[in-house]
Amino acid sequence: MKGVLFDLDGVIADTSVYHFQAWRKLIKDHFNRDLPDELEKQTKGVSRKDSLTAILNYLDIKVSDADFQEMTDEKNKVFRELLASLTPQNILPGISDLISQFKQHDVKLSLASASLNGPYILEKLQLNSVFDAIADPSKVAAGKPAPDIFLAAASAINVDPKDCVGIEDSIAGIKAINKAGALSVGVGAKNELSEAKLLFPDTSALNYDQIESAWEEFK
Ligand code: G6P
Ligand code: MG
Repeated sequence: MKGVLFDLDGVIADTSVYHFQAWRKLIKDHFNRDLPDELEKQTKGVSRKDSLTAILNYLDIKVSDADFQEMTDEKNKVFRELLASLTPQNILPGISDLISQFKQHDVKLSLASASLNGPYILEKLQLNSVFDAIADPSKVAAGKPAPDIFLAAASAINVDPKDCVGIEDSIAGIKAINKAGALSVGVGAKNELSEAKLLFPDTSALNYDQIESAWEEFK
């Protein structure tokens, strides 16, 4: 195992909650409609535009291109306001230890987040210096569940995807890791992340030795 491709929201920090909170506010403000919890699963790991498309499809609402653009900008403004108070205390349990273990074993760290706010969030968490690379989601052709961002993250650390593990909390992300040819490590519920090759119920359960032996079997 030479590289680890990290998702960010919901794996490194619990910012996935903020994403959905921001979508809920936007939809309430614009249409006075509430979003059901189940939509959160569908928007997790999915780009900003693809998330709004999924939400509007669910609500059966059509908007002009200009309004669509304005709404994604507005959602991002709300999300950035929620991020303002982010500190290293928002790093999820077990993640700092896991990162140290990867470092000790000379495993390179690369960020494979769909979020255009990734560098800003890592900065707030004081984690940018521990990452060897951050893949730029604005430069990839297709978002998760396509493998592109994971391929870009592996290439940014010069490691073959099959020598990498990817860590994800979203259905779209697990599919993307599998397609990229890396070992998929899921964080979350079994009924949701059934396609993950290795699954932990939450970040505090993530274990370097288990990840390493799963990769030895997988390679
Ligand atoms: C992550 C989150 C998604 C979010 C996407 C884009 O993958 O899980 O919920 O839509 O990033 O984030 P951005 O910060 O660019 O809007
Ligand atoms: Mg995530």
